[in-house]
Amino acid sequence: MPVSLSTVHVINHLDRDYLRQALEHDVRVGLTASPKWLPPKWFYDAAGSELFSRITRLPEYYPTRRELAILRARAADLAAESGADTLVELGSGTSEKTVLLLDALASAGTLRAYTPVDVDAVTLSAAAQRLARRFPGLAVRAVCADFERHLALLPRAGRRMVAFLGGTIGNLDPVAREVFLKELRATLRPGDTFLLGADLVKDVERLVAAYDDSAGVTAAFNRNVLRVINRELDADFEPEAFEHVALYDGRQDWIEMRLRASRDMRVRIGGLDLAVDFAEGEEMRTEISAKFRPEKLREELVAAGFKVRRRYTDPTGDFTLVLAEV
Ligand code: SAH
Ligand code: AVI
Repeated sequence: MPVSLSTVHVINHLDRDYLRQALEHDVRVGLTASPKWLPPKWFYDAAGSELFSRITRLPEYYPTRRELAILRARAADLAAESGADTLVELGSGTSEKTVLLLDALASAGTLRAYTPVDVDAVTLSAAAQRLARRFPGLAVRAVCADFERHLALLPRAGRRMVAFLGGTIGNLDPVAREVFLKELRATLRPGDTFLLGADLVKDVERLVAAYDDSAGVTAAFNRNVLRVINRELDADFEPEAFEHVALYDGRQDWIEMRLRASRDMRVRIGGLDLAVDFAEGEEMRTEISAKFRPEKLREELVAAGFKVRRRYTDPTGDFTLVLAEV
């Protein structure tokens, strides 16, 4: 049931039971697999989102600044090209960059509604309220949902631009990405557009530095998934007993973040009635962050049924924004 907070409506598809079951499933599957792995969506409780915000301001982490540069230069074109009256943003987080798109749509005279979509309810509702204050008259309908599961439930009114910024598409593995793109395509109608931000393949040293910063913020972000599991599933991970690992797989064109056990350990996960053994040096994958080649990205979009209308790259060639239509 929608909850009204002045001009903000929050719709929640992730009640506690759903979240608990989804986390239980993912942790059981991932930690009983060989090698062990965990999906990245569980990084993002309120503390994880705050750590991600800090990452975006690190000198080594270029993607946010590069995408901002494209948006500063191109938001007006994007608004005109899309003609959108409704901005739907997947994985919106703090919605910081979104202000540029909303400003451009407001200046074009089309803006009516904003629908941020995120798994982290705390960050989502704070961002929704901030933007409702900043854009009086804007209908803000925040949706707490999993974009890998709930695309079909998102509001469909208006001429929509669905934005998926930050390179978060790279956190989906290739099969999940294909499914996601096809599902999203199926929810769009003629006149709707898809704005996709993607990080590009580049020099390995810069890539690795972006995911292994000298201040250790990314390491803390990586370990946060263990804190989430401790709290939600009554587990006894010692986060500091796991080392942060970031490496680039040049065959797959992706960064992998892992957590490496610094000694032999048995971890008990009370909520699953499960004990998991780690050997010293054992690595568990916690995230991939795929980097794209422009032509390959276009092919993936076309294979999912999109047509690429505009493609923008920042002056350094680090990051791309693609505007696609159906
Ligand atoms: N778009 C912002 C934030 C990127 S961080 C930016 O460009 O800076 C990734 C965001 O996606 C986080 O806010 C996280 O909570 C959200 N997220 C991750 N997996 C998700 C999923 N499966 N469904 C919905 N939101 C998800
Ligand atoms: C949200 N996503 C695009 C980030 C990325 O770059 O893959 C998450 C992140 N992981 C480590 N640093 C940032």
